[in-house]
Formats: sequence, structure tokens, C-alpha cells
Amino acid sequence: MEIDSCRFCKSKNINKFMTYGKMPIANAFLLEQDYSSEFFFELAPVYCEDCCLFQLIDQPDPELLFHDEYAFHASTSTVMQKHFKDLSDSVITRFGLKQDQLAVEIGNNDGGMVHYLKEMNYNHLGIDPSKNVADIAASKGVNMLNAFFGREVAQSVLSKEGPAKIFLAANTLAHIPDISSVFQGVDELLSKDGVFITEDPYLINVFEKTSYDQIYDEHVFIFSLTAMNNICTDFDLEVFDVEPLPTAGGSMRYFIGRKGQNEITERKMEFEEKENNLNLKDESVYKKFKQNCETSKSDLVKLLTELKAEGKLIAGYGATSKSTTIFNYCDIDSNLIDYITDTTPTKINKMSPGKHIPIYDYQYFCDNHPDYTYLLAWNHKNEIIKKESDKYNGKWITHTPIIEVHDSF
Ligand code: TMP
Ligand code: ZN
Repeated sequence: MEIDSCRFCKSKNINKFMTYGKMPIANAFLLEQDYSSEFFFELAPVYCEDCCLFQLIDQPDPELLFHDEYAFHASTSTVMQKHFKDLSDSVITRFGLKQDQLAVEIGNNDGGMVHYLKEMNYNHLGIDPSKNVADIAASKGVNMLNAFFGREVAQSVLSKEGPAKIFLAANTLAHIPDISSVFQGVDELLSKDGVFITEDPYLINVFEKTSYDQIYDEHVFIFSLTAMNNICTDFDLEVFDVEPLPTAGGSMRYFIGRKGQNEITERKMEFEEKENNLNLKDESVYKKFKQNCETSKSDLVKLLTELKAEGKLIAGYGATSKSTTIFNYCDIDSNLIDYITDTTPTKINKMSPGKHIPIYDYQYFCDNHPDYTYLLAWNHKNEIIKKESDKYNGKWITHTPIIEVHDSF
């Protein structure tokens, strides 16, 4: 349902500065027989002129997004595996997590950081609303709760397990429309010296890279430090450090503790100043982003149309959720992209949402190397180049920060 006020501060001053138009559910890969029941909604971002929270004006029912057949399996990426292993090591070294102290991770998908803590015999709990991935994590021995996290779940965990020293949400917070409920839950569950670590795509990176494909149904919010500070103000919480990350195409990790418990780092103050200078309350920032999206769209369509007119075979690499926004916003279908290759079993031999481009497995890509490959999973670029540089001789197309063709990487 369309909102008429900010999801967090309830201000009516929300500014709908652009729309991406009619959009299907980004991860709803489908079979031909299901075309007639495909669900569409309007994908449009707004920003709150008071708390600066960047959010979707409408989000399909979360039950439609995070269900028993959630198509995203985090463990398909080896880079993300290392990312979570490193994080599990750093919560032990930096914050002194002890084996009997509780570490909770929400949205840990089929493993996450708690999987590595489990391997080291640390007290842990993963909480994920999608049953299929939660079951996979449980089958690896991770303590799992299959639920949507909020105040009530927090109270129940607190009464059974005690307070949490570490609370992690990696690529999760942006997915939860009732943001206040999550913060209430964290406020309830976090110990006095506890640390809430949350990381998500970073709004300033989205602007700088014109990576508008981060905007899709699951990302109901794209956070900035300014908005995160404003959210924490309502609770006994404050951001004391931030860490920019290369993951998900440019993310920010926020370290949040009880007010006054941790020293505020220089790095946090630097990012705060940078955002203050940018002025996220000023409409011109958003208008410039809108203009960049429109340029990206026309350049991409022009390039693909020209290449197809020359008879080139063009494939997409990685049937990402992000690519659903690109193809539907730019009106690109199988006339312009012949197929998309992906390694995820639940996506293979299905059609892409909305534009119905076929998804084929990796072997198909190897057997039918295209002339041009559009790197849709651009956030996994290094991993993909490593895999393809010796085998694939065609050209690559990328869209961040601008549409470009590369003879090789
Ligand atoms: P993500 O951007 O949401 O992480 O999704 C990445 C998608 O790309 C996921 O469906 C798996 C796919 N993929 C491949 O097919 N091959 C690869 O080498 C990598 C890294 C990802
Ligand atoms: Zn607001």
C-alpha cells in the first residue's frame, strides 16, 4: 500500500521525486504458464524531508517477498562467505565476544555470520523469515528461528536466552518496512555493552554510481548515516562508527551501541560531515540522481538496439534482483537480451520477472558464448572476472557509473 507519511518519523513531508513505473517482484522468476498471474506494483522512491530516510512509496506485502521459496541463496557467493567469516573473527577480536555470550543475526539466510560462530562453538541464534533458507542453515547445525524479527520476537529471545552482546543485520534492515519495530526489538535485546552491527547498500554510493538497480521491492529503505543517526535518536542507541564496504555494490556498515557507551570515531565524524555538505534535505540532490537514471536508461537502450541491429548475441550475467529494475524501467526484453545465465538452481530454466528473458544455467553460457555479456551481477565483478578471464573472449557491458563496453576486464 502507498504510504502518505514517512515509515519512520511519520512526517507527511515525503517527496516523490521520480518513478521507475510498473514493476514485478524482483526475485519472482517464473514459468510461462504463470505470466497471467504475475504481480505488478509501482516502484517509486521518496525521501523524507524531515528525517532524510530514503524509502519506497509502495512495497508489496512482505509475505510475497520472503516466503518458503525465497530464490536468493547467500552461500552461492564465495566472496560473501569470506565477508561473513571475517566479520565473525572481528566481532571476537574488536568487541571481545565470548563463547557464552549471545550473538544474534537476523536475515542470516542459509548461513551468514552465525554459521561461522557456530563452527567456533559460540552461543548464537539466526532468525530468518524464509523457511527454505532457514532450513538449510539449520541443516548445517545453526540454531535457527524461522520468524520475522520485531519487538515480540526480541522479548521471547530475551526471556529464553538473555541479552545479546552482538546483534547483526547484514543486507537485512533495508528489507523490513516496520523499521521502528526492529529498533524496538534491538533496544529490548541488546546488552548494555552490546553492539548492533548493520550493513546495507549506501545511499551516497547509489547516487555516485547511478546504481538505481539497488532500488527494488526488497530494499524498502536505502540508508544514509544521516537517516541512521535520526533513527537512533528515538532509542537508547547511537552510531559510534561506520565502515564503508565494497559489498552489494557499495555498502555502509554502521556500528551502533548504547548512548555514551562507545567513543565516537573520527571516521564516523568524517562521513557525517560529508553528508552534511551534500545536504540530503535538498531536492536538487535527488533531481540530479533522477537525471542520471534517465541518461543511463537511454544510453543502455541505444547501445543494445545498435548491437542487435548488427546481429550480435547478447547475454546477461547473473539473474539478479537488481536486473529486474533495469529491464523493466528500461523496457528491455528478449529482443535485446537473448538470455541470462545464472548458477542458482531455483532461477534456472525460468523467465525473468516482467520482461520474460530466459534464464539458462552456466553450462549453457559456456556452450553459447555471446558476443557481448552484460554484467548484471556487477557487485560480484572480481569473482566473475577471475572465473571468466581465461575462458570468455567476448566483450562486457557495464552500467555503473555510466554505460560502457569493455573489450576485456
Ligand atoms: P546478488 O547480486 O543478489 O548477490 O545476486 C547475484 C546473482 O548472480 C545470483 O543469482 C547468483 C548469480 N551469480 C552467478 O550466476 N555466477 C557467479 O559467478 C556469481 C558470483 C553470481
Ligand atoms: Zn522521516
